[in-house]
Amino acid sequence: MARHVLLTGATDGIGLAMARRLEAEGAVLTLVGRRPLEALDEVLFTPTTYCRADLSLPDAASRVVTFLEDQGRPPIDLLVHNAGVGWYGAAEAEDAARIRTTLDVNLWAPVALTHALLPHLAEPTATIVFVSSVLADLPAPEIACYAASKAALDGFARSLRVELAGRARVVAVHPGGTATAMHEKAGVPAAQRERFRFPSADRVAARILRHAERGRRAPTVGAGNAVARFLGRHATGPLDWAMRRGRK
Ligand SMILES: NC(=O)c1ccc[n+]([C@@H]2O[C@H](COP(=O)([O-])OP(=O)(O)OC[C@H]3O[C@@H](n4cnc5c(N)ncnc54)[C@H](OP(=O)(O)O)[C@@H]3O)[C@@H](O)[C@H]2O)c1
Repeated sequence: MARHVLLTGATDGIGLAMARRLEAEGAVLTLVGRRPLEALDEVLFTPTTYCRADLSLPDAASRVVTFLEDQGRPPIDLLVHNAGVGWYGAAEAEDAARIRTTLDVNLWAPVALTHALLPHLAEPTATIVFVSSVLADLPAPEIACYAASKAALDGFARSLRVELAGRARVVAVHPGGTATAMHEKAGVPAAQRERFRFPSADRVAARILRHAERGRRAPTVGAGNAVARFLGRHATGPLDWAMRRGRK
């Protein structure tokens, strides 16, 4: 039987690439995004597959649950918390509303949505994937709140993995830089974006889905990113020193 996948942040970047791949493999999809359905021209998005919910708003989780119930969707085999936002700039310059939105979309929404969707999971075989970031384990100047939100998300996943043992697998996957519109949306200056040489959203999407299949606890996408995460956790002093020097 086709598996039912619920995916947030399905309208762009890595999420859209995952949605395309999952559709090609015949999955039943529930795709969550904030854009109106009329603005989405892919055949993927239909009134039965697309749930419009702004994850920065407190009613987002209940909107998703209502959608599932109204559409009579089957239990969820794979739940992917992928939606994410960030803002680029010095921590002292970031305004309160932006900080709030970053924490709401990247942390509050996956926590609230997990809570609301637990009764809808296909236990005991379901998998919950949190799309985190290598920045959860690294100093991230100019994008500190984003990195903090991902570190907190890792903390939630770590505990949930133990709580849900025997009911669902919990995977917190850590991509590094990926060629999506996220950096532009976050306000990273064009000159800086042009220096990035990142893998495509599709390549990273494929790796995330593979990690979801394998069910390892906290995998990293890409060998270089795995080294960076290791240094972030085990060589904090030298890493801080090197990064401070690099900024001079
Ligand atoms: N790109 C990277 O370098 C990178 C690196 C590590 C981790 N990640 C993580 O990977 C995930 C996907 O990022 P991406 O690069 O694919 O970014 P993206 O292209 O900007 O896609 C993000 C998705 O989240 C959705 N979203 C944002 N705010 C939302 C809200 N309030 N309500 C509902 N949906 C919302 C976006 O909707 P709209 O289409 O309306 O904007 C979009 O569908 C994120 O969790 C990100 O933190 C990305």
